[in-house]
Amino acid sequence: MDKIRILGGRPLHGEVEISGAKNAALPLMVASLLTDAPLTLSRVPGLADIDTMARLLAELGVDIEMPEKNGGGTLTLNAAALTSTVAPYELVRRMRASILVLGPLVARFREATVSLPGGCAIGTRPVDLHLAGLERLGARIVLEDGYIHASAPGGLKGAEIHLATPSVGATENLMMAATLADGETVLHNAAREPEIADLALCLGAMGADIAGAGSDCVRIQGGASLSGTHHRIMADRIEAGTYAIAAAITGGKVVLSGARAEHLAAPIDCLRQAGVTVEERNTGLFVAANGRLGAVNLTTHPYPGFPTDLQAQIMVLMTVAKGSSLIGETVFENRFMHVPELARMGADISVSGGNALVRGVERLRGAPVMATDLRASSCLVLAGLAAEGETVISRVYHLGRGYERIEKKLAALGADIERIAS
Ligand code: UD1
Repeated sequence: MDKIRILGGRPLHGEVEISGAKNAALPLMVASLLTDAPLTLSRVPGLADIDTMARLLAELGVDIEMPEKNGGGTLTLNAAALTSTVAPYELVRRMRASILVLGPLVARFREATVSLPGGCAIGTRPVDLHLAGLERLGARIVLEDGYIHASAPGGLKGAEIHLATPSVGATENLMMAATLADGETVLHNAAREPEIADLALCLGAMGADIAGAGSDCVRIQGGASLSGTHHRIMADRIEAGTYAIAAAITGGKVVLSGARAEHLAAPIDCLRQAGVTVEERNTGLFVAANGRLGAVNLTTHPYPGFPTDLQAQIMVLMTVAKGSSLIGETVFENRFMHVPELARMGADISVSGGNALVRGVERLRGAPVMATDLRASSCLVLAGLAAEGETVISRVYHLGRGYERIEKKLAALGADIERIAS
C-alpha cells in the first residue's frame, strides 16, 4: 500500500485549481439512470469513488465513455439498455453513495435490488430515511440477506415526505425518484447542501420540474420523461476548504481557483475569526495567513452550518492555534478517529462524546501515522505540512477517494511531499 511522506514547515504559495465536487459528481452520474438519452458531465474529478460509481453503473448496463481517463475529464453515460437492476455487495460495500441508485432504478424500472451499503467507518450511518421515503412514494421494500429489494409494479406516486433528519443522500435519492413518479412530491426538512442544488440544476436541464432545491422544502412535479443534457459539475467546496486550511496552517498565500465563497460561508467565517485573510477574487478565493492563529470554537451542522467533512481539517489548524478550541460534531458519531493520530504528532486533544477540546501547542512534530477515513487522511496531510520534521502517512488509499492528485497539487504550491509506492 502506498504511503505519503511530507517534510513539514514550508509555507504554500501560488494557485491551485479546485476540482469538480465528488459529492456532486456521484449523484449526477446516478441521474443518468433516469433517462434513455445520454448524459454528459464535465469537470468530473479523477477519484477512486468516481471509478467505483462508474463500475457500479457499468454493472447495471450503463454505457460509459470516459475520454480523458483519470484527468478530471468528461463522462458520457447512457442508460438506454440496462441489463440489470441489481447493485451487488462487492461494489456497494466500497462506497456508501451506491445507495443512490435505489430510487432512480425503482422509479424507472419499477424494481431494484441494492446491497446494504458499507462506506467510511464513521458511525452506523443507516439508510432508513431513504427506504421510508421510497415507501411513501409507493415502493414496497423488503430487506433480505443484506439486500434491499424495492418494487413498484404500478410505478411510483408523488407524496409528501418529512425527513426526520436532513440527510443529503436521502434528499438526492428521493428527489431523483420523484422526477419519474406520478404527480407532485414535496420533501420537507430536505438537506440544503449546494450539491443538491447542482443535481436539481442538471435534472431541470433534463426536463424535470423541481422547485426549492437548496432550501429545506423541495417540490417536484413528476411524470415527465427526461432527456439527456450536458452539465458542468460545481467546484468541490470540501477540497477548497482543505486547501484554504493548508494555506493557513503553513502561513502561506494561496489562490483557490474556481472555489466559491457562497458555498463556504461557515468555514470562511471560522478562518477569519482565527485571523486568516480570506478574500473573494474573480477567479476564486485568496487565502493568506501569517504567524500563529487564534483558537475558535465551532460545531458541525448540516449545510449551511460548518461541514462535518471539514471538521478533521479545521481541528488540525486548532492544534497549533493560540488558546483552546472546543469542536462539536453533531452530524456523525465516531468522527474523531483522527484524534489519536494527531496526538502522536504532539497535539493536545481530549474527546468527550461528540466534543473535542483542543489545547493549542506551539508546534506539531512529524511522526509515522495511519489514515483511517477520507477526511481524517487529509487532516494528517495538513498536520504533516505544518509539523517539524518528517511525517509518513500509511493507508493513503482513502485520500484517493476524495482528493484529486493531492500530492501533485501540494507539491506545485511548494510543499515537500511525495508518494512512496509500495
Ligand atoms: C453525504 C456526503 C458526506 C457528508 C455527509 C454529511 C456524499 C456522497 N456524501 O453523506 O461526504 O459527510 O453527506 O454532510 O454526498 N442518516 C440516517 N438515516 C438515513 C440517512 C442518514 O439516520 O437514512 C443520518 C446519518 O447517520 C448521519 C446524518 O443522517 O448521522 C447525515 O447523513 P447524510 O446526510 O445522509 O450523509 P450522506 O448522504 O451519507
